[in-house]
Amino acid sequence: MNPAGKVALVTGGAVRVGRAIARNLAASGAHLVIHYHRSTEAAREAVAEARRMGVEAVAIGADLADPAQVEALAQAAEDHFGRVDILVHSASPFVRASLTETTHELWRQVMGVLVDSFFLLARRLAPGMVARGEGNIVVILDRGTFDPWPTFLAHSVGKSALWALARNLAVELAPHVRVNGIVPGPVLPPPGYTSEDIARIAAGTLLGRWGSPADVADAVLFLLHADYITGEVLFVDGGERWAHRRPQTG
Ligand SMILES: NC(=O)c1ccc[n+]([C@@H]2O[C@H](COP(=O)([O-])OP(=O)(O)OC[C@H]3O[C@@H](n4cnc5c(N)ncnc54)[C@H](OP(=O)(O)O)[C@@H]3O)[C@@H](O)[C@H]2O)c1
Repeated sequence: MNPAGKVALVTGGAVRVGRAIARNLAASGAHLVIHYHRSTEAAREAVAEARRMGVEAVAIGADLADPAQVEALAQAAEDHFGRVDILVHSASPFVRASLTETTHELWRQVMGVLVDSFFLLARRLAPGMVARGEGNIVVILDRGTFDPWPTFLAHSVGKSALWALARNLAVELAPHVRVNGIVPGPVLPPPGYTSEDIARIAAGTLLGRWGSPADVADAVLFLLHADYITGEVLFVDGGERWAHRRPQTG
């Protein structure tokens, strides 16, 4: 798929990694629905930036833990552009909590944003893609999708469920809609990381350094163009997942 002239909805598209994805799509000529939750001002700036690049853009706010707001987001996107061709689900709470720290309310909130909102958006938007004979869906995952991460329990389980849902959709929506996932490694430190944290995490990749949000955004574009790839997951992690296999010295 050539994104030029297509309509892309990016959840969490106002800031950080989601913003880089939105920016790359706009630079490729895609019109944008930039979803945001709390980052109202950043969403406004992202819209202005996209318009300066010559595409149409709109910012739509929604708490993705609330199904009614998710439905309203899909409706507003379709009302504005008449269709959505590309869905990138990047929004994701990053909540540190073990089993005993995870209340049922927190569990439901994380699952709501990661899994339920993606289910509802896909259910609402994919039939139009199928009817038009073309569509692309990309979910942004992380290493918790495949590896246990008990200090981020709901997050890790939510990312696993998101990938399970995405690969089911790859089967159900074929051949017209392709559905893929991206597993970023360390590309942008969350607030509060110390320089020691940053150095330790860099050393835990094969390439010995952090990537950037642009690396993830480039991978999204690659998957849009990659017409023979569906139901696949692409690691953009500097080799983080294989670092434990480095030969020991000494
Ligand atoms: N940063 C990394 O190095 C890294 C590494 C691996 C994977 N990833 C993945 O890349 C994606 C983006 O990461 P990031 O670091 O840029 O994320 P982030 O800084 O933690 O931002 C979280 C995003 O999720 C949105 N969000 C959170 N709660 C929400 C809710 N209840 N309803 C709607 N939106 C909500 C936020 O929207 P508002 O700001 O508008 O509230 C924001 O756009 C995530 O899927 C993350 O798992 C990132």
